[in-house]
Amino acid sequence: MTLGESVWYVGFHFAYGLVKYLPTLSGDVLRYAVLKPFLKGLRGWVSFRDNVTIWFPEGVSVDAGSMIGENCFLDGFGGLTIGRDVLIAHNASLISEDHGFASRRVPIRRQAKTTAPIVIEDDVWIGCGARILKGVTVGRGAIVGAGSVVTTDVAPYSIVGGVPARVIEMRPDDTTAETEPGHRGAAGSD
Ligand SMILES: CC(C)(COP(=O)(O)OP(=O)(O)OC[C@H]1O[C@@H](n2cnc3c(N)ncnc32)[C@H](O)[C@@H]1OP(=O)(O)O)[C@@H](O)C(=O)NCCC(=O)NCCS
Repeated sequence: MTLGESVWYVGFHFAYGLVKYLPTLSGDVLRYAVLKPFLKGLRGWVSFRDNVTIWFPEGVSVDAGSMIGENCFLDGFGGLTIGRDVLIAHNASLISEDHGFASRRVPIRRQAKTTAPIVIEDDVWIGCGARILKGVTVGRGAIVGAGSVVTTDVAPYSIVGGVPARVIEMRPDDTTAETEPGHRGAAGSD
C-alpha cells in the first residue's frame, strides 16, 4: 500500500468513525455526506443506518433508494455492487473475499486472499443476519431469508433461506394479472 493510499484509508476511517454511530435518522444524512466522496459509487439518496461497517469503500457501489440496516458489514475488497431500492436488514454481512488457506505452513492471515465480486440487483430484500459470500449475484426482486448463508447465485424473484441457502419458493408473478400489488405487505421502515 502506498503512502497516499494509507492516508486515504486513515482519512476514511477517521471521518466515517465520527458519524458511524450517530442515531438514525439525522445520522443517515451525515453518513451519506461522508460516504459520498469515498465510495466507488453512490447514486441518489441511500440510507446508511447506524453502525454500518464498511471496509474497502473504493470497491462499494450503491444505487438510489436503497437502505443498509443497522450493524451491517459491507466488504468492497473483491467488489460489491448494490442496486436500486435494495433493502438490507440489520446485522447482514456481504463479504467479497476469503482468506487463502492452501498452505498449512503459512498462517492463514499471511496467505493471499481470494476475491470475487458480489452483485445485489435491484429490488432485492436481504433479511436480518444474512451472510452473502464472495462471487454471489442475488437476482432482481429476490428475497434472502433471515439468517441465511448464501454461497451460490440467487435467481431473480426467488425466495431463499437456510444454511446454505436453498430456494423456498418463487414470488408470485402479478405482472400480467389484475391483482393488487404488494400483497406480501406494504413497505415498512426497513
Ligand atoms: C424468507 C421469508 C420472507 C419467508 O416468508 P414466508 O414466505 O412467509 O415463509 P413461511 O413462513 O411461509 O415459510 C415457508 C418455508 O420457508 C422456511 N423459511 C422461512 N424463512 C426462512 C429462513 N429465514 N431460513 C430458512 N428457512 C426459512 C419455513 O420454515 C417454511 O419451511 P417449511 O415449508 O418446510 O415449513 C421470511 O421467513 C424471512 O426470513 N423474513 C425476513 C425478516 C427480516 O429479516 N426482517 C427484517 C426487517 S427488513
